[in-house]
Amino acid sequence: MLQSVLSERMVRLIRFFAPRGIRVSRAMGQYVWDTDGRRYLDFHTGNGAAFLGHLNPHVVRRLREQLDRVTVLPPLYDSDALDEALSALGRVLPPHLGNVFFQNSGSEAVELALKLARKRTRRRRKAVAFTGSFHGRTFGALSVTFNRSYREGYEPFPFEVDFLPFNSIDDLRRIGEDVAAAIVEPVQGEGGLTPATEEFLRELERRCREVGAYLIVDEVQSGFGRTGLVWDHMRANLRPDVLVAGKSIGGGFPVSLVAVTDEIASRVEDGEHGSTHGGNPLALAAVTGGVEALISDDVPSKARAAAELLMSGLREIASENGQVVRSVKGRGLMLGLELRFNPAQAIRDLQTRGLLALRAGTTVLRFLPPYLITPEDVEWATAQISGSLTSLGSSKPSG
Ligand SMILES: Cc1ncc(COP(=O)(O)O)c(C=O)c1O
Repeated sequence: MLQSVLSERMVRLIRFFAPRGIRVSRAMGQYVWDTDGRRYLDFHTGNGAAFLGHLNPHVVRRLREQLDRVTVLPPLYDSDALDEALSALGRVLPPHLGNVFFQNSGSEAVELALKLARKRTRRRRKAVAFTGSFHGRTFGALSVTFNRSYREGYEPFPFEVDFLPFNSIDDLRRIGEDVAAAIVEPVQGEGGLTPATEEFLRELERRCREVGAYLIVDEVQSGFGRTGLVWDHMRANLRPDVLVAGKSIGGGFPVSLVAVTDEIASRVEDGEHGSTHGGNPLALAAVTGGVEALISDDVPSKARAAAELLMSGLREIASENGQVVRSVKGRGLMLGLELRFNPAQAIRDLQTRGLLALRAGTTVLRFLPPYLITPEDVEWATAQISGSLTSLGSSKPSG
C-alpha cells in the first residue's frame, strides 16, 4: 500500500525561493551545464560555496579516498581523516586560533560561537551586531542578522541584540559590559557587499577587550582566500576570540568550523556541545582537500588578480550606465553593482545570456565567482553584464 502511494507521486520541495528555471546536469571549475547541454559561467557558485571551483580535484581526490575508508565516525574517535584535517588547518588558521570544532553549516558554527560567548561571559544576554549583517537562519544566528524580512515572525530571539551602524567608530562606545559578544563580517555579503574599514575593525576589537565581550569574526563568506587574503580580517591585524568559517573551506562540501583561542578551548566542559554529523570523515577529507587546493594553487593571489580585472570591468560598466548603476560594491571576489532598482530582472536576463549571479541586500547585483576564472571569463562576463544593464536601462525609467 505504502509502496503504491509513494510510486504515484513525488513529494514537493518547500520553495522558500522561486526556482531559477534551469535544470543543471553537471558542473566543472567555473562552469555548470544544463540538461540541454548549455554552458553557464557560474558567478553564483551555490551562494559562494564553490569558490574553489566545482569538482576541485584536490577535494574530489580526498573525498574519493575517504569513501573507501570510513564515512561515519564522530570525532571522539581518532582517525587519519581527523589528523589530516587538523594538520591542514594548522597551515592556514591564525596561529592564536589553534582549536577547532566542526559543524555542518555556517549558521550552526555561528550558533556555537554565540553559545560559547554566552556561557563564558557569565550568561550576559546581550549581543552586538551591525546594520546590514547576515549570520544565518537558525535562532541564534538570526538574532544577530539585520534583515527584518528574515526575522519577522520568529521573535523572541535568544539574545537581545543592538544593531550598531556598520563602520561607525563612534557608536562602538555603546558596547557595554552587559554584552556577551560582538559579531562582525569583515565584508558584509548578503547585506550588500560592504567592507568594514580597518579602523572600525580595530576599534571594535579594542572596545570588546575593554568590556570583556567576545569578538566573533564571521568569515563564512569572506574567508578562505576570496578577498586575496586567507582571512580577510588579517588586513586589520585583528585577533578575534572566535573565527567562524564555512562555505568554501571544504570545496563546497557541507562543513563549517569554529576556531577559538587556547583560553576558550581550555574551559570547555565535557558534553556541553556536540553534533552528530559535525566532523564527519567525509567533511574532514573535504577540508583537507580544500586547504591543499588553497595552498598549492595560491588561491588568495589568483583571487586578487581576478578581482582586480573584474573590479575594473565593473567600474567601466558603472561609469557607462549611470542611469541604472549607483556604484560598484565589494572586495576581492565578492563584487557587485548597486542598481537603482531591484536586481531580479537583471539576474534573470544574465541567466538567459549564460551568466549565473545572485542578489545582495535589496538592490545589489552580486557576483561570487570562483578563484579560477580566467581573463577571458571576466571579459565575457562583463560584456554580458554591460549588455544586460544597457538593455534594462533603456526599458526602465531612471530614478
Ligand atoms: C557571513 C555569513 N555567515 C553565516 C552564513 C550562514 O551560512 P549557512 O547558510 O551555511 O548556514 C552565511 C551564509 O550566506 C554568511 O554569508
